[in-house]
Amino acid sequence: MAILEVAGLCKRFGGLQAVDEVSFAVESGEVLGLIGPNGSGKSTTLSLLMGVVRPDSGSVQLRDIEIAGQPTHAIAKRGMAMVFQHSRPLHRQTVLENIQLALLPDTIFQLCRAKQLVQRAREVADRVGLTAVLHQHPDALPFAFLRRLELAKALAADPAVLLLDEPFAGLAPRETREFSDLVVSLRGAGCAVVLVDHNVKAVAGLVDRIAAMHAGRKIAEGTPEQVTGNAHVREVYFGKSLDTTPQAPTARTEHDGRRLLETRIESVHYGQAEALRGVELHVDEGEFVSVVGLNGAGKTTLFDSILGFVGYRGDIQWRGNSLDGVKPAARASAGIALCPETRALFLHMSVRENLDLGGHALNRQARVEQRDQILKLFPVLAERASQSAYTLSGGEQQMLTIGRALMARPRLLLLDEPTLGLAPLIIEHISDALEQLQQDTGLAILLAEQNLTFAVKHSRRIYLLETGQLRWHGEADRFVAEVGADVL
Ligand SMILES: Nc1ncnc2c1ncn2[C@@H]1O[C@H](COP(=O)(O)OP(=O)(O)OP(=O)(O)O)[C@@H](O)[C@H]1O
Ligand SMILES: [Mg+2]
Repeated sequence: MAILEVAGLCKRFGGLQAVDEVSFAVESGEVLGLIGPNGSGKSTTLSLLMGVVRPDSGSVQLRDIEIAGQPTHAIAKRGMAMVFQHSRPLHRQTVLENIQLALLPDTIFQLCRAKQLVQRAREVADRVGLTAVLHQHPDALPFAFLRRLELAKALAADPAVLLLDEPFAGLAPRETREFSDLVVSLRGAGCAVVLVDHNVKAVAGLVDRIAAMHAGRKIAEGTPEQVTGNAHVREVYFGKSLDTTPQAPTARTEHDGRRLLETRIESVHYGQAEALRGVELHVDEGEFVSVVGLNGAGKTTLFDSILGFVGYRGDIQWRGNSLDGVKPAARASAGIALCPETRALFLHMSVRENLDLGGHALNRQARVEQRDQILKLFPVLAERASQSAYTLSGGEQQMLTIGRALMARPRLLLLDEPTLGLAPLIIEHISDALEQLQQDTGLAILLAEQNLTFAVKHSRRIYLLETGQLRWHGEADRFVAEVGADVL
């Protein structure tokens, strides 16, 4: 008996049929995976189920009761909860307070049971492994913990149906396994789960069935083997990526070995806490170098130091000159561009405006040329050129972030987790595009990644960062043999 039954669900945004006659059913204690290219309508489908977006037509039955078109709070009350693609905690409240808020009863008469509320919040926190950070503020938490907090908030309502939108995005393999175990325990407790994620390996290992979407439609449904083997799914979603085992680095472009960037960071502190210690690394012209490490290892702090967003002890040199006292804007003008993990897009501006801001230092003609290049690189952005960044799908936003950084025509591109939220086919596409750019323009890239396959495939050299310190450095092809594939 299905607890959730979806039939003929439709949603149109202007000229775009985002969800088109989608039907599926999920039983209690069952996990359904939902995969598909960026922009294929997965998040929109979940939002329709949760009542965040109103369906144009179609039926959603939860325990045989029609809920399509009802407001979110009514749907939540009937037993549905959702973990959204982006974490949005209340930053002034602690972890415990965030969970308590999600637990608050919806009538004022129940408010007196404050003690029980705290007790229950602690239980939920314990269930998702947040006990150690109960009194911290979300700002201080590594990314993986923010995702756990979102899960805790969803679990607070003790849902019968849980919708998870990209819970694994941005998680390292170890964190992904831990999160998977949590989902398994939910399933064991009889919860029905709908799971959207581009980490197909993690999805396939966890779900009972997979449904695949493309351009708003469901194009396949079945066991993980059936769906990942489906020719149509492979064509629109995986590309060649399923066939290729990690190969030796290919990005060995010719470069003349001139030193572009050299860091001799003694330390970086946030208040009392030490975020980096003794980080000495370099990038030569045209080189592709990766820094790999878990969430919280210090990758983003390293990038922020290179750009001058945080203060550091020690020295960072750009083309032989110290950047001491050089402001972030001047570092950017000198040729360093950042593609941040948080994306930091101007959400209420259009795709075109975001790109133009990235290229604001170019003259008009150069800017238009560069924009045309980027739109050729990401054709879907050309189709969305006047749409506001806010309404883009997760993967489309990621493409825009990379595009905006490239608009500045940098000599060194700092890429912070660029594969986050991207479909396999698009990752492949971006891989090709980056290689092409390196060959054409001699662009150097410093990549921060938890996606080891991607890092090993593209880098000439790899640095392993653990709790703020470099633990290993060497040629990429030695990484797996010497460090192992399981470090993250
Ligand atoms: N409010 C909106 N206005 C206009 N277009 C929208 C709106 N919301 C979503 N879209 C478009 O609908 C399409 C489907 O978006 P959706 O977020 O469901 O994709 P997705 O399958 O979750 O993709 P991803 O894997 O990248 O997260 C996208 O092309 C997106 O640009
Ligand atoms: Mg999405």
